Amino acid sequence: MRGPDLVLGIESSCDETAAAVVRDGTEVLSNIIHSQLLLHQRFGGVVPEIASRSHTQRILGIVQHALREAAVTPEQLTAVAVTNRPGMIGCLLVGATAAKALSWLFDLPLVGVDHVQAHIHAAFMTRPDMPLPAVTLVASGGHTALYLVHAPGRTERIGSTRDDAAGEAFDKGAAILGLTYPGGPAIEAAAIDGDPTAVQLPRPLLHNELDFSFSGVKTALLYHLRGSGLERPMPSLSAAQVADLAASYQAAIVDCLVVKMRRAAERHHAASLAIGGGVARNALLRAAIAADPVLGALELVFPPLAICSDNAAMVAGLGTEQLRRGAVDDLHLPVTATARR
Ligand code: KG4
Ligand code: ZN
Repeated sequence: MRGPDLVLGIESSCDETAAAVVRDGTEVLSNIIHSQLLLHQRFGGVVPEIASRSHTQRILGIVQHALREAAVTPEQLTAVAVTNRPGMIGCLLVGATAAKALSWLFDLPLVGVDHVQAHIHAAFMTRPDMPLPAVTLVASGGHTALYLVHAPGRTERIGSTRDDAAGEAFDKGAAILGLTYPGGPAIEAAAIDGDPTAVQLPRPLLHNELDFSFSGVKTALLYHLRGSGLERPMPSLSAAQVADLAASYQAAIVDCLVVKMRRAAERHHAASLAIGGGVARNALLRAAIAADPVLGALELVFPPLAICSDNAAMVAGLGTEQLRRGAVDDLHLPVTATARR
């Protein structure tokens, strides 16, 4: 009889070096994540060369840590799954090279996984019997899109951002307000004591579309502070003003996300709604979805925070799904900067 599938996942597409072991596609035995936050913070964003160098230094230790914590030896693994797209090429190459070496050394099937699809798949790891079709929002620093999910691994993109990603909007808004990178958690924390109605910010593209646009919200915040010709210097803001601006900005981004999710759910007769990506950690977003009359009536699947932002458990989970379908790669597996459509 075939034993359980024990899949090692590896993730290095951006600034997290991560490895995880997942049993039978859903049971997370270990989920080790090293964040490079401190390396990039002073630059206000991820520096590709610094990121890939740090991945190189960390990757083997992180893989060993994941195996040790799961109490699994490489010989016991069924396969190794790795993010091979989308992301920064130098970063992706580090994870892919490590995965290929393990695949060759221990004679393991190699499964290349799309990072955005893995964010979508996190919902199935949380709720394997999620009623379908589902509408899933993936909102992170690099991508913001809506997907119609027909089955695990079978998704259709139905809307996406035309400019900034939602996480990027949080990051840029935080930079304008003098808050730290990454901006999402910083804005969320600053907004706690703020009034979300203090400043009227636009909600772009609200009508008819399933696409998003966030760059205008960021520009409106900047113009609010410095004038529409940027004629004023940046004012020095009190803590109360920062709180009000952060709350107003967060509310505008969350409103845009919720309106589009509602429209997508209605248009596609969704049975469930799921969220993934770093922005899915946001508590206001989760509360606004639950409070929405249409969305709140659906099955809501909010994955645990540890598998919302970048992690390798979601990679191992989707990798298991692909392995079972026979979608296995070989040592020629390429890395690609762009996402699968
Ligand atoms: O999925 P992720 O970890 O990495 C990418 O694939 O980009 O997402 C990171 C993004 C950042 O832009 C960060 O500001 C945002 O997710 N983020 C949040 C929160 N936590 C992380 N945005 C809003 N609220 C949060 N609590
Ligand atoms: Zn991500």
